[in-house]
Amino acid sequence: MTSNSCAVRKAVIPVAGLGTRFLPATKAMPKEMLPVVDKPAIQYVVEEAVGVGLNDILMITGRNKRALEDHFDRVPALEATLEAKGDITKLDAVQATSGLGDIHYVRQGDPKGLGHAVLRAKQHVGYEPFAVLLGDDLIDARDTLLSDMIEVQQKTGGSVVALIEVEPSQISSYGCADIEDIGEDGYVRIKQLVEKPAADEAPSNLAVIGRYVLHPAVFDVLEHTEPGRGGEIQLTDALQVLAAEEGEGRGVYGVVFRGRRYDTGTS
Ligand code: G1P
Repeated sequence: MTSNSCAVRKAVIPVAGLGTRFLPATKAMPKEMLPVVDKPAIQYVVEEAVGVGLNDILMITGRNKRALEDHFDRVPALEATLEAKGDITKLDAVQATSGLGDIHYVRQGDPKGLGHAVLRAKQHVGYEPFAVLLGDDLIDARDTLLSDMIEVQQKTGGSVVALIEVEPSQISSYGCADIEDIGEDGYVRIKQLVEKPAADEAPSNLAVIGRYVLHPAVFDVLEHTEPGRGGEIQLTDALQVLAAEEGEGRGVYGVVFRGRRYDTGTS
């Protein structure tokens, strides 16, 4: 274990996925723009990052994702219309989306998997710890998962994943973690990570969900990570390497989340 005094300032949000599960709703619209109550799903994720001080946000985008950029941009004509009408509530709501953080965009190019998407962030992130938030998981704003994970990253100097307990029959939809209790309050050490194991081969029923706080050492590992499950470069496989090694930026830890999570990928 090494301590790491470099603060976490940046969030990476992969949004290049095709959203095939939601067709035809996502034929011409990014799945991240599907509304959840009164906002597109992606806005909750960006608000979560900004809410814990991660104002520098990089979205890994792809073709047909331009609506995402438009959503977080200013729309002067719309703002002027709302102002002229005196509709301050809507004006505030519209302006709030363009005032959220400092958002950057890079395209993934080839759809080679989550590990490949995260590797596209290497240049922007540089050599500092960073968070990864997947848009399929929405975490209730009253829960403190991401800030707890940042704390664990700062304490351990390694990488941190979020875990939930699932029914054993569900584990094949997730990365799965074999853990060790190291007597710490609030986190465990990850001994092994396996991407989407069959139920009878899974080392546990602890599933990795879409929040990560990673040491930048993961980039060098990802550069050498061969395609794994589904022929894709898996973030889980790169983290497994970091979990098994010792030294600077090595070690992977898990925060078991028991709060409120909404899975937009299956609902
Ligand atoms: C990805 C990861 C998987 C993780 C999941 C969480 O899978 O590869 O390890 O459990 O996100 O949402 P995906 O759902 O993109 O197939």
